[in-house]
Amino acid sequence: MLKVKDIDVFIGHKKIIKDVSFQVPAGAIVGLVGPNGAGKTTIMKTILGLTKFKGNILVANQTVTENNHLALANVGALIEHPAIYPFLTGLQNLELYARDKGDMVQLTSTLEMDSYINTKAKGYSLGMKQKLGIAIALLNQPQLVILDEPMNGLDIEATISVRKLIKHYAEQGTAFLISSHVLSELQKVMNQVVLINAGKIIINQSTAEFNRVSRQNYKVITEDNPCAMQILQKQKISFTPKDDYLVVRQKDIFTIQDELFKNRLHLQEMLPLEANFENIIVNILDRERGKNDAH
Ligand SMILES: Nc1ncnc2c1ncn2[C@@H]1O[C@H](COP(=O)(O)OP(=O)(O)O)[C@@H](O)[C@H]1O
Ligand SMILES: [Mg+2]
Repeated sequence: MLKVKDIDVFIGHKKIIKDVSFQVPAGAIVGLVGPNGAGKTTIMKTILGLTKFKGNILVANQTVTENNHLALANVGALIEHPAIYPFLTGLQNLELYARDKGDMVQLTSTLEMDSYINTKAKGYSLGMKQKLGIAIALLNQPQLVILDEPMNGLDIEATISVRKLIKHYAEQGTAFLISSHVLSELQKVMNQVVLINAGKIIINQSTAEFNRVSRQNYKVITEDNPCAMQILQKQKISFTPKDDYLVVRQKDIFTIQDELFKNRLHLQEMLPLEANFENIIVNILDRERGKNDAH
């Protein structure tokens, strides 16, 4: 549905986006994730024809350029702050775009907006505005939906209903590109991860593969950590001691369990460490460096 190929974006003389390529097939939910300032918003704006860029962007096989937005007729988007008219009610804002009333009513009820949909948008909280923005992006059965940090300002309940809605639309064939600077927000909903850092894609893979690679460190707690450290040292198993636990590598976890058992030391906890950008990016850049050194 969306094909982005060899995109460079300059702001002034600075190259903000560097040779970015990826695709979003129909029905896919692609997460564009990375730290603040990585270039997520810029990529989304570029796809929507809002920046000057080099490269190719195709939406449903039609080319998007800065001056040609025809390809975007069937695209819903929420970028940065939702474009909402403050002196209209939520419903009036939706009616400006809605081609099908039933569809609109369904959306507002799924997003649980009924209690405030008839009040003026200027009184809405950040979360209420965000939901309205998401509803506008999903109107009229779009083929492609681009959501920039859609979970910003949403409480847990709203986050869950937005996730459900996204999954439901994807099942009907809508393609999604969703950004977040919080990895865990999208982990439950995306099926492909595009990880971006400093304007460059450093990972583009299925979520299953990504989770396998990014969960390479485990947290270990035993009944006697200093004793466990001696055992690991003797077996030349690498670890990093923390205040009240040890960090070990995934490839060693079975050996560690065996060694602890042999030494009659009880294991209290062994869990994959929460993946965070910093760890993942550092690991990947280290690996890249290792590869280059080997050549
Ligand atoms: N209008 C602008 N003028 C100058 N620099 C910009 C502008 N917009 C974005 N940038 C820079 O481009 C980089 C990427 O920004 P952005 O796409 O907003 O990142 P993200 O959405 O991932 O947080 C940042 O370093 C930011 O400072
Ligand atoms: Mg952004």
